[in-house]
Amino acid sequence: MPYFEMIRSPRTDQGIVIEDEWPGYDLNLFTYPEHYRGDLENIYIPHGVIMDRTECVARLVVDDTDDNYMVVLCVLKGGYKFCADLVECIKAVSRNTPKHMTVRVEFIRLKSYLNDQSTEDLHIIGPEDLSVITGKNVLIVEGVVDTGKTMKALLKHVETFQPKMVKVAGLLVKRVPNVVGTLPDYVGFVIPNRFVVGYALDYNEYFRDLNHICVISEEGKIKYKV
Ligand code: HPA
Ligand code: MG
Repeated sequence: MPYFEMIRSPRTDQGIVIEDEWPGYDLNLFTYPEHYRGDLENIYIPHGVIMDRTECVARLVVDDTDDNYMVVLCVLKGGYKFCADLVECIKAVSRNTPKHMTVRVEFIRLKSYLNDQSTEDLHIIGPEDLSVITGKNVLIVEGVVDTGKTMKALLKHVETFQPKMVKVAGLLVKRVPNVVGTLPDYVGFVIPNRFVVGYALDYNEYFRDLNHICVISEEGKIKYKV
């Protein structure tokens, strides 16, 4: 099935597509923390590009909303940077317009990865009682969506609280062969099925403090393996 048919919302903006052949930028062309020297293969998506794209996603969100109140559900930990920057952009693009938004932010934690491998069991950790979303517009904000399995489970949980509307924003969507779950309504980038870090995405809790999205080197993978 072509990718565009799998997207839930019928819009033309399906995210910036990064092709399989994209080699990333040479590490010497950008700055990054000294403590990660030798641990990275390339700069896959520079921080500035992420920021520019986030502003566009915020515009799409604000254009689609029919309310001045929104509950943002931030999926920790990988979604925290995107969530924080997206909320800032939503405020910025909506203020001084009839769509000026009041944004409440709630946090939920999902855990399913060990090293760079997805494990079967998914844990939802966070507020048991999500009744603040009942009757409200909800935006779930996630760092990476691959099979969509996690998102499907989370949506099921969220919908039990009967929100008015639920939309999903994913910074990265991976092109994976067997998509079983739900894909985001708003997509930052569509990337090949490879493991990336930075901008809050981790490898065993490392690299969240890197601003760019990068590919790890083999040395880096070994160095931080558990
Ligand atoms: N990087 C970090 N965490 C992830 C990824 C990734 O590529 N995919 C799913 N969780
Ligand atoms: Mg992780």
